[in-house]
Amino acid sequence: MQEKFSLIKSGAQKEVELVQTTRELNDLKVKYLGKSGEITALLRGMKDIPAEKRSEFGKMVNDLKVEVGEIFDQKESKLKEKELQEKFEKEAIDITLPGKKPKTGNLHPINIVKNEIINAFSGMGFEIFEGPEIETDYYCFQALNIPKDHPARDMQDTFYIDEDIVLRSQTSTGQIRVMEKKQPPIKILSPGRVYRSDDDASHSPMFHQCEGLVVDKGISLCDLQGLLDEFVKLVFDKQTKTRLRPSYFPFTEPSVEVDVTCSKCHGKGCSLCKGTGWIEILGAGIVNKKVLENCGIDSNEYSGLAFGLGIERVTMIKYGITDIRTLFENNVKFLKQFDRR
Ligand code: DAH
Repeated sequence: MQEKFSLIKSGAQKEVELVQTTRELNDLKVKYLGKSGEITALLRGMKDIPAEKRSEFGKMVNDLKVEVGEIFDQKESKLKEKELQEKFEKEAIDITLPGKKPKTGNLHPINIVKNEIINAFSGMGFEIFEGPEIETDYYCFQALNIPKDHPARDMQDTFYIDEDIVLRSQTSTGQIRVMEKKQPPIKILSPGRVYRSDDDASHSPMFHQCEGLVVDKGISLCDLQGLLDEFVKLVFDKQTKTRLRPSYFPFTEPSVEVDVTCSKCHGKGCSLCKGTGWIEILGAGIVNKKVLENCGIDSNEYSGLAFGLGIERVTMIKYGITDIRTLFENNVKFLKQFDRR
């Protein structure tokens, strides 16, 4: 019996030595220790052993089971170690290869400048209001003191959807929408897209404006100039100055056009400013009393200032862009120049 046990053990040892993979080892384990394995068969044979020898026999079989089990366990840990090593080698990453840089986008210059404008004015306490791009004639014109037959309508080539609905030609519509809902004090900035039937090197059928409106007691042109002086220093540079020139807009009285010192020559005169040293950036003025009254605001108690600037215009001045169409052609080489990372 002892001999048989030794044979089984040495047989297991030899066979285990030849095994190359954990899978083969498992199959072999079944052969020895599985339900119908050799060692299990010994236990099953217990019934044929005389009763007085059974316990000794049982102990021997169990010892054999433990010893053979250990042979398998040792081999298993060796194989696992080996297989893990092989897996690591196979999956090794060559860290000396240069990485592939993922292609990322960047903000469009118009959005960069729009954000700078928003930041500048929010720093001065302005709230942001975005109105609809499809507007009624009332919000786009009538409430802004431009009646149906008013010649000022010719100032803007409007896209009409029908007789009463337009693609807004100016963000000044935001003034009305805010004043209708809110009583002073009001301090809002309304950025967004506007549309005009116009297309050349300095006009695009879709462009962006930013409307500003402040309504409170005692607002004057001095407040307007102070505000814009601060704004141009933030968006252009500290040396930039403003200049107000008389102008006409139906929704402001008095109305002004505002120039800044040329960002390229700082006022000396160059090709960008056509030798004048100044570049026009926006229209502005003191809100016409009629506009305040149209929105239910008492014009004897309150006054307001308003301004409207073209975001493309500011972008072009800031970066020396001479043709507005460059901003809409989506030439990646052009746009990548604005990648700040
Ligand atoms: N809405 C005008 C335009 O598109 C710009 C403008 C001028 C806005 C004067 C204003 C303003 O608020 O007071 O040409």
